[in-house]
Amino acid sequence: MYRLGWDERNGGNISLLLEEAEVADYLDPGTVIRHIPLMGVKEVDLDLSTLEGRIFLVTGTGKYFKNVLLDPETNLGIVRIAKGGKGVDLLWGFKDGGRPTSEFPAHMMSHAARLSVDLENRVVMHSHPTNLLAMNFVHELDEKSFTKDLWKMCTECVVVFPDGVGILPWMLCGTTEIGKATAKKMEEFRLVVWALHGVYAAGKSLDETFGLVETVEKAAKIYMLALGHPRVNELTDENMRELCDLFAVAPKSGYLED
Ligand code: 13P
Ligand code: ZN
Repeated sequence: MYRLGWDERNGGNISLLLEEAEVADYLDPGTVIRHIPLMGVKEVDLDLSTLEGRIFLVTGTGKYFKNVLLDPETNLGIVRIAKGGKGVDLLWGFKDGGRPTSEFPAHMMSHAARLSVDLENRVVMHSHPTNLLAMNFVHELDEKSFTKDLWKMCTECVVVFPDGVGILPWMLCGTTEIGKATAKKMEEFRLVVWALHGVYAAGKSLDETFGLVETVEKAAKIYMLALGHPRVNELTDENMRELCDLFAVAPKSGYLED
């Protein structure tokens, strides 16, 4: 993600839900290094009780993705949602006194929302993909037309994200408000654009989630490359229906004409 330019400086963050059995070979889940209260959140608004006791590998706030491989123990942490759901217990990592991403509330609320519709969801990923962001400045921020214009850019887009792209208006990041709004969208979409900021994606694995962002970003790149040029060919709704039938996926209802 860093190499692709989607996550300049400390931009972007990732959280991965781990099973206790997966971590038990590497650390003692009974040993808490320190308790970390969550920052930037209105305590009354933040309810992570459905995730109490769940363990996540998460990127640190202010950390650069490019440094994760060099020093995972400083740039990443393994945390467990503490009793009451208002903070986390650190089990490993954040060696320099660091803490989870400032977007932790949005990540956790998105995990809870995705798990409520898909028990296999494990990953939430936030990044600032260049072309998708550029598209935010030249395309109306309407979910249906934005999704359809992305679908039309690559033949397989409708198959990769048949549920489309949700869009939130510009909101202050790092807050419980944007977390709640993202989670609401996540009940319906696995991709949520944060207008003029970036994108949130969710999936069953790191590969699947990365692949979603990669596909949307590729479509946005083609959209931006073709922008301002006369359109002489176009993928039709009928073409996209045929694709959905072949790959047995259901496109978001009402988006394709019959
Ligand atoms: P963090 O460094 O806190 O993860 O923030 C990066 C970011 O992209 C905020 O939206
Ligand atoms: Zn961001």
